[in-house]
Amino acid sequence: MRKHLLNAICSLALLTAGMPVVGQEVLDPDPNTLAPSKDPKRQANGLAQTPPMGWNSWNKFACRVNEKVVRDTADVIASNGMKEAGYEYVVIDDCWHGSRDANGFITEDRTRFPSGLKTLGDYIHSKGLKFGIYSDAGTKTCGGRPGSQGHEFQDALQYGRWGVDYLKYDWCSTGTRNAEEAYAVMADALKASGRPIVFSMCEWGNSMPWLWASKIGNLWRTTGDITDKWQGKYNYSWGVASIVDMNEPHWPYAGPGHWNDPDMLEVGNGGMTEVEYRSHFSLWAMMAAPLIAGNDLAKMNRSTRDILLNRDVIAVDQDPLGKQGHRVSKQGDLEVWSKPMVDGGRTLLLWNRGATPARISAEWTAMGLPGRLQMQARDLWTKKNLGQFSGRYDAEVAPHGVVMVRLKS
Ligand code: GLA
Repeated sequence: MRKHLLNAICSLALLTAGMPVVGQEVLDPDPNTLAPSKDPKRQANGLAQTPPMGWNSWNKFACRVNEKVVRDTADVIASNGMKEAGYEYVVIDDCWHGSRDANGFITEDRTRFPSGLKTLGDYIHSKGLKFGIYSDAGTKTCGGRPGSQGHEFQDALQYGRWGVDYLKYDWCSTGTRNAEEAYAVMADALKASGRPIVFSMCEWGNSMPWLWASKIGNLWRTTGDITDKWQGKYNYSWGVASIVDMNEPHWPYAGPGHWNDPDMLEVGNGGMTEVEYRSHFSLWAMMAAPLIAGNDLAKMNRSTRDILLNRDVIAVDQDPLGKQGHRVSKQGDLEVWSKPMVDGGRTLLLWNRGATPARISAEWTAMGLPGRLQMQARDLWTKKNLGQFSGRYDAEVAPHGVVMVRLKS
C-alpha cells in the first residue's frame, strides 16, 4: 500500500512537471489507489480485458461514411485474415445520425444508411464481427449531429435495439458539464441497455480521465486528434511522435479493462513512409493501445496489410498481463522502450526518432532485468531468431524506424 502511494505521488509529481517517467521499472500501480472514483461502489463492466481491436470510419472517411463503406469493410475484415488476427469491432464514427423522432429517440440518416442500423448491425454480426457506434456527451456531436445530453438512457436503449457492442463517446458542445459525471451517466445507461457495450471515452485527456475513469470507461483518449504525419502539431491535431509523447507518461494507469487511448491508427492513409507506419504500429503495440485501423481496408496495398497483420506485434499489444510499455532511456533522438510480458520476459523497442541511421543499445538493468540474465531474442519485424544475449542488446536503427525484439529467458 505504501509502495502504491509512493508510486502515485512520484508519478503525479513527474506528470505535473510535464516530464516522462524515464528509467524506472514497471512498478505495480493499483488502479483503486491511483484512480479513485467519486462512487466507490461503481463496478467496471468487465469488458475489454485486452485492448480493443477493430476499424473506425473517421480517419479515412470522416462525414463521408455510408452503408456501403461499412459493409465492404466488414467483408474485408472477415476475409483477409484480420478477423483471425483479432480485429473485431467495426465502428461507425460521427455523422450516421438523422434527427430525433417525436418521442426523442435517435434515428439514423436513411440517405447514408438506407437499410437502417439494425440491419447493418445484423450484417456485421453475421460476419462474426461486432458493431460500434459514436455519440457525444454534449448537445451536438463534433460534426454537428444530435448529441446524447439529456437522452442518455434513451440512446443506450436504442443502441441496444440495434445490436451495438461498442460506443465511442465524444466531448463537443458540453458547455460546463463535468466530465466524470457526464461519462458516468452514459456508463450507467449502457449497463441498463441490457447489452455488453465497450465504452470508449473521447474527451481528449482534458480532465485527466486516467485518474478517475478506470471503472467508468474501457478506454479513454489521452490526446487530441491524430493526423497522418510523423510529428508536430497541426491546428487541433498532432503527428504520431507527438501523440506518443503525450500518451506515454500515463502508462501506470492502464490495465485489463481500462486502457489509455492515443487515438486510432493512420497506417495506410498515405501521409507517412512505410518505415514510419511500422514505427507507429509498433509504438501502439508497446503502449497496449487499442488497435483500431483507420484506413480504407478495401483498397489497402501489400505493405499496409503486412503491417496491420503482423501477428507477433499484435501479440505484444494483446499480452494478457496488460501492462503498458514505456520509455526506459532516452539520449537525444534515440530511445529504448520496454513492455513486461506475461511470461516474465520483455518486449524491447529501439526507436530512432532522428533523420540519420543510429546504433541504439538497451541495457537489461534499465528494463528491470538482472544484468547477467541470458535472454533469447527474436526480431518481430524480420521474424528472425537472433540468438542468446546477456546484459544488453544493440542494433542499427533506420531513421524514424524501430527495431522490435521479444526477449525470453
Ligand atoms: C472528435 C474526435 C474524433 C472524431 C471527430 C468526429 O474530433 O476526437 O476522433 O470522432 O470528433 O467529429
